[in-house]
Amino acid sequence: MSQEAIYPPPAAFAAQANVPSLEAYQALCAKAAEHPEEFWGELAQKELHWFAPYKNVFEWNPPFVKWFTGGKTNIAYNCLDRHLATNGGKVAFHWEGEPGDTRTITYAELHRLVCRFANVLKSRGLNTGDRAIIYMPMVPEAAVAMLACARLGITHSVVFGGFSAEALRARIQDLGAQAVITADGGWRRKKEVRLKDAVDESLAGCETIHTVIVHRRTGSNIHMQAGRDFYWADLEAALDPATANDCPAVELDSEHPLYVLYTSGTTGKPKGILHTTAGYNLFLHMTMKWVFDLKPSDVYWCSADIGWVTGHSYIVYGPLSAGATSIMYEGTLDTPDFGRWWSIVERYKASILYTSPTAIRALIRQGEQWPEKYNLTSLRLLGSVGEPINPAAWEWYHRVIGGSRCPIVDTWWQTETGGILIAPMPGAVALKPGSGTFPMPGVLPEVVDLSGKPVPAGAEGYLVLRRPWPAMLRTIWGDPKRYEEQYWSRVPGVYFTGDAARRDAGGYLWVLGRVDDVMNVSGHRLSTMEVESALVKHPAVAEAAVVGKPHEITGQAVCCFVTLKQGAHDHEALGKELRQWVAHEIGSFARPEEIRFTEGLPKTRSGKIMRRLLREIVTTNSVSGDVTTLEDLSVVSKLAAQQEDD
Ligand code: PRX
Repeated sequence: MSQEAIYPPPAAFAAQANVPSLEAYQALCAKAAEHPEEFWGELAQKELHWFAPYKNVFEWNPPFVKWFTGGKTNIAYNCLDRHLATNGGKVAFHWEGEPGDTRTITYAELHRLVCRFANVLKSRGLNTGDRAIIYMPMVPEAAVAMLACARLGITHSVVFGGFSAEALRARIQDLGAQAVITADGGWRRKKEVRLKDAVDESLAGCETIHTVIVHRRTGSNIHMQAGRDFYWADLEAALDPATANDCPAVELDSEHPLYVLYTSGTTGKPKGILHTTAGYNLFLHMTMKWVFDLKPSDVYWCSADIGWVTGHSYIVYGPLSAGATSIMYEGTLDTPDFGRWWSIVERYKASILYTSPTAIRALIRQGEQWPEKYNLTSLRLLGSVGEPINPAAWEWYHRVIGGSRCPIVDTWWQTETGGILIAPMPGAVALKPGSGTFPMPGVLPEVVDLSGKPVPAGAEGYLVLRRPWPAMLRTIWGDPKRYEEQYWSRVPGVYFTGDAARRDAGGYLWVLGRVDDVMNVSGHRLSTMEVESALVKHPAVAEAAVVGKPHEITGQAVCCFVTLKQGAHDHEALGKELRQWVAHEIGSFARPEEIRFTEGLPKTRSGKIMRRLLREIVTTNSVSGDVTTLEDLSVVSKLAAQQEDD
């Protein structure tokens, strides 16, 4: 597949686009680069509601930044209240549960639900400055819980429902949360995911939690601890009916901590990425208009889960701030069959679909007969996120789903960046399959070597960012030193993304993947160290080294090299057990694809495991013979150790 294929914006698309030409895009970029205060200040005035005006657009004390200092606002107000006068009856969410149950929620109804739940939180003594964990399936109540927290200034941390009790406990403890908001369970491939059981397991040893609020989703039997656990509906029913629907949004500082979202870094301990209020809000609001070309008539569907940053920014805060009508779906793409997504697009007349390359590749494998059964002509724009999209998947998405008429926005960003940083504005920029194209206004990416020197066009280097942007993470929760070291010290003075990239002669950016020990499995971030720490907790395991292995569908798969303690072991049974063990320790999405037993791991002379070598082994299989035995690995390791230490 040629990387030279180029797709200019279709004329009909450009004619109606929010940013209708390359010149218009370039003018935005020029203004943002030359006069950032004016650029962002004008947008903040125009696009957000302020209870009190800000004094400074930003204050940059590298590596710490504050946006719109002195201002008072509230993101839940911007997402709900300000739409009520003109758009209260507009649909905020078309929700579809996996078993096929549906709900349609207008902005007015969502506002009412959020106010009531904020009052529920208050009735449990929770208030501005507290922290709450949200561990829920993809039901509207998940968004309601987030917005109710935001309304009161309670910092939330959503934990993806696929994470284990262990992972949940680590997050509760790191955050020092007072409350957990959860559900009895959720539906996944017709089976119940028992969330409340995991909460119970995780709470042993978490003294800070005084309240667990449980939404009834599956209706199954769960344990309820008196004095700590309450049903959402019971707490709501206990509110004074005269005031239950009233809960004014708290006037919060621009920099009030909105949420902490944990993501994998290069150590075993996940990092709590802190996002704050006003800058984050503005940046998402603008990228909805710039990248998704959002119009009042759109029906927008982001297929991510609320537990990941894509769900935070582009299911909840971005679309609602911009007043969009969205689709929210609880289930998987193959339940009851591979036509499910397309039936949803047809029924709700989705006009924008935003999903991951992994999902696209899984759909490609099932053939074109599934999308062909449905009317997809409502679609006008497609999006991709989470991992590089291979040109073949891009072309299929474009032709089969987009009917060759919909531009595709390949959006590069990270949990840390809060919002999309590199993506085409679809009415302005000609597309090249596999390239994220160009940055958002005010975002200055460069491809450099480790000294910070830009590499020549076409060469690979590290992707770094020179300037702070409004949705940038502010710090790592409770660990500003780690924030400084992780992001601002690798290449002095710039934000280090952890990704490799190249810029072609036309200036297009191509993000190639991680350069650190972070794996990307189905667009989900996972650290090799996290999986290794889980493995060595197993009584039979002596040492473990984990690497990402290229995978046709999921991009990468988890591949583990394991050495065992003395004794006789049934490798087949133990392999199965260890895969299950990791799923239990971290979450099912982390389940290794492969466990390879070996009698030794390749190490440098100073004792460091040579993951680079293991990556090469699983990637190219270039090491001949059976690499799962001591003999082979030690030979390989001796050869390579020389080079690594020299
Ligand atoms: O390696 C990049 C990859 O995903 C990483 C960020 O993962 P996470 O924080 O979980 O956020 C995912 C959703 C925003 C990046 O460092 N990545 C994300 N989007 C792309 C991508 N790689 C290539 N192209 C993309 N469009």
